Amino acid sequence: MKFTRRRFVQTVGTSLVVTPLSLQASGSHQRVKNNPFQHGVASGDPLEDRVILWTRITVNNPQHRVVQVKWRIALDPEFETVVNEGITHTATEIDFTVKVDPDDLQSGTTYYYQFHALGYESPVGRTKTLPKNHIDHLRIAFTSCSNYPFGYFNVYKMIAQRQDLDVVLHLGDYIYEYANGTYGDGSALNRIPEPNKEITTLDDYRMRYSQYRQDLDLQEAHRQHPFITIWDDHEVANDAWNGGAENHNPELGEGNWLDRRAAAVKAYYEWMPIRRVDSDNPLKAYRKFRFGNLLDLMMLDTRLYGRDQQVANALDPKLNDPDRKLLGDEQSEWLLENLQDSQEDSIKWRMLGQQVMFGQLVVSGQIFNVDQWDGYPASRQKVLNHLKDNNIDNTIILTGDIHSSWAMDITENPYDGSQYDGLTGQGSVAVEFVTPAVTSPALTNEVEADQTAFYLKATNPHMKFVDLFHRGYVLLDITHERTQAEWYHAESIVEPGNTNQVYAAGFKINDATNRLTIADKVSNEKNTAPAFAPSFSGNEHHEKKHYKLDRD
Ligand SMILES: [Fe+2]
Repeated sequence: MKFTRRRFVQTVGTSLVVTPLSLQASGSHQRVKNNPFQHGVASGDPLEDRVILWTRITVNNPQHRVVQVKWRIALDPEFETVVNEGITHTATEIDFTVKVDPDDLQSGTTYYYQFHALGYESPVGRTKTLPKNHIDHLRIAFTSCSNYPFGYFNVYKMIAQRQDLDVVLHLGDYIYEYANGTYGDGSALNRIPEPNKEITTLDDYRMRYSQYRQDLDLQEAHRQHPFITIWDDHEVANDAWNGGAENHNPELGEGNWLDRRAAAVKAYYEWMPIRRVDSDNPLKAYRKFRFGNLLDLMMLDTRLYGRDQQVANALDPKLNDPDRKLLGDEQSEWLLENLQDSQEDSIKWRMLGQQVMFGQLVVSGQIFNVDQWDGYPASRQKVLNHLKDNNIDNTIILTGDIHSSWAMDITENPYDGSQYDGLTGQGSVAVEFVTPAVTSPALTNEVEADQTAFYLKATNPHMKFVDLFHRGYVLLDITHERTQAEWYHAESIVEPGNTNQVYAAGFKINDATNRLTIADKVSNEKNTAPAFAPSFSGNEHHEKKHYKLDRD
């Protein structure tokens, strides 16, 4: 074993996970309890000159209805070069969550940030602004589907430990709405969801986020990397669409859909490091991020904004109704325009960060899942026509939702040999990469999962990689020559602190080819990566280190 600096940081980081317990044992229980930064820090939605910084204040004194919070952001982890600082307030109305959006930052730059409230300093976070103009290389991790009772968030810790990431994408199902035992039983792992009931009200959703964000592995991923997130269905309720959800049942006392959705969305904005794109309409969360001349990332909402209701099954005659929408007209127009603008601006790659599988999945001659783009064929065709009609190259779809790993070519009809050649990929117009879950399961029997994957690849010629068993994440390594996706699978999600991971597969799309080929080698880490945010106990009272807000 090589003892590198990286390994040292990892080891120290792991040992600190137990600090709260050791502090309690040494009689510092009061300090642990009073520390207001129980949910760590986070950052997100980076732009060239700004990035959202987030924390939350845990208030033990019910008299406190408003809390003053100081913040600062610096070029170095020791805060010797502070570039901006300020004072903000938080209150009961926003569940004591804190968001600041400091501007005037430099593009493509790593920053360190920290908050201060009620006599305590927060952990130090690390973040990075988007690059501008020409850049050579990006490294991005993406994942989805983190169900608390199903297992430990080891996958988040693995992502936290990758020092050279530019950003992390979370494609939804960041929380799950169920009571314990409905989908995942956390009894054995002591990961019982709070409140232990199906969440439907604002207080419920807030409490669920609060529980998830006390998970130290999730906190560490947020502390080390900026996130770009978008919701899927479980941030509100299973199989959500614009007007309801499979798991929304007013007759069971779950209230009105619009009230429940509004509560869930409010809690999402409070608890996630996301920037509102429309001050009048919180439901509008689709948005775009430009990474220099290398990548345009369009984050889509295929759930709440414009989705018409799912059809009952694949035989439903309404399936092919051209008026049924997945994105809704406004979002669809926005996407098509942005794809075209991106190509015209000579941005090398276009990525769609979204929820449900875009490519066709046919089992025994029938569409398998009408909750995916397969259930909205007219909406998918519109995107495909646009790519073809405008000769838009280098489009990559990033997908979550189904707790399994897939790589596939995207084409209008992969089952028609005159249109698409499964051996060469001739006829493909884009590619799709699907991430496994942080913890949510797909098939739980490994032999059965392998056999099913083999069958699916044999009968769906556009599918190049299918794994239906493992949890993990996808690493994207992006250059002007190619984008490579690598699937990393977790050894265990039931053993706490196990961050062993297996390189499961790698596929790349070479510039202007629009089809997948197998990656010949694992991508290299960046030669230089900014220092991690320093480790912290999260529970110490730094009386002497309080920073002044006066500029020198
Ligand atoms: Fe999920």
